[in-house]
Amino acid sequence: MEKINKRWVLARRPKGMPEDECWKLEEPSINDLDENQILIKVMYLSIDPYMRGRMNDMKSYTEPVAIGEVMTGESVGQVIQSRSEKFQIGDYVAAHLGWQSFIRCNDDNPALMRIYPDLAPIQSFLGPAGMPGRTAYFGLKEVGKVKESDTVVVSAASGAVGSVVGQMAKLIGCKTIGIAGGKKKCDFVKDVMGLDFAIDYKSKTFRDDLSKACSDGIDIYFENVGGDVSKAVAELLNPGARVPICGFISAYNSSISESGELPETPFDIFGNLNPMPEHRFFVVTEFKEKWEEATRELAEWMRQGKIKYKETILDGIEKAPQGLRDVLSGKNFGKQLIKVSD
Ligand SMILES: NC(=O)c1ccc[n+]([C@@H]2O[C@H](COP(=O)([O-])OP(=O)(O)OC[C@H]3O[C@@H](n4cnc5c(N)ncnc54)[C@H](OP(=O)(O)O)[C@@H]3O)[C@@H](O)[C@H]2O)c1
Repeated sequence: MEKINKRWVLARRPKGMPEDECWKLEEPSINDLDENQILIKVMYLSIDPYMRGRMNDMKSYTEPVAIGEVMTGESVGQVIQSRSEKFQIGDYVAAHLGWQSFIRCNDDNPALMRIYPDLAPIQSFLGPAGMPGRTAYFGLKEVGKVKESDTVVVSAASGAVGSVVGQMAKLIGCKTIGIAGGKKKCDFVKDVMGLDFAIDYKSKTFRDDLSKACSDGIDIYFENVGGDVSKAVAELLNPGARVPICGFISAYNSSISESGELPETPFDIFGNLNPMPEHRFFVVTEFKEKWEEATRELAEWMRQGKIKYKETILDGIEKAPQGLRDVLSGKNFGKQLIKVSD
């Protein structure tokens, strides 16, 4: 029977929050495999904040998605056809090959990574055992140079990256403070993740609450959001503090203004402090040679119940645009996934 691929391509560049018109759903039929190719049936698609930046016509640390090109994204799935010696039918893979329901690709594509369902649930290879987990792992260890005596603050603390940062810091023995939006997320940060303090940045008493929780100052601020949250944190940093800049989601929808003005970034905030904290932007791909090791350690912590996590799952690849809007507005709770097939 003829197989149809459902894929989202970029149709136009957004201004502000990306509306449905920014993408087009295409349904081409899938060609037979060539030699050394595999066909993957996608089970889950990951929705991540960086996707918004790739929709702009602006080079950051990587090229933007071109108009007409399949929207960027990583998914997990199962090999259902193979003309490859490297992959058998039934193997599970993660593939950074875009918003599509089937992926036909060469078996040596560098965007492919073998995953092992005996280590952790399949979809968690897009969450705590996947890219967001590894981002937390290397950001805290290698960029933040975390040590036991540190007070660690993380923003977007209930999210895919933040939840791993907070719990890893707790495992290391640090004093931990998670910043999140609203009571439900803060309850999760405190009661389920077990951080020492959960602070709601939407509360009127945010600055006071943060400063009370950080009575000995802050040694590491793991930056995920930017904006007013970062300004409040900046006042409490200790001399010698480190600020791994992972992202600044509060500015993503305003990254290109009509007047050509750039939005305020964490570099403006932390770069003007005296003393200036050690701060730099990092990308998880800097540590690619150690991904396997980090994935195994994260999966083991999950198995032992030392890392707990939330997922928000929308059903059907048609929901991918809504999923991205939800992440950019904080409607997601934990890792945002799209269930594409069983
Ligand atoms: N450098 C890298 O290699 C790398 C890799 C992965 C992710 N990242 C970055 O890490 C950060 C977190 O990503 P994630 O995948 O873990 O996402 P996530 O935390 O699971 O979801 C995004 C969260 O950001 C918060 N948020 C949204 N709009 C906000 C705003 N205007 N102000 C403050 N908070 C806002 C919301 O949480 P609340 O409801 O709590 O506000 C939302 O749930 C992002 O900045 C992302 O770009 C970087």
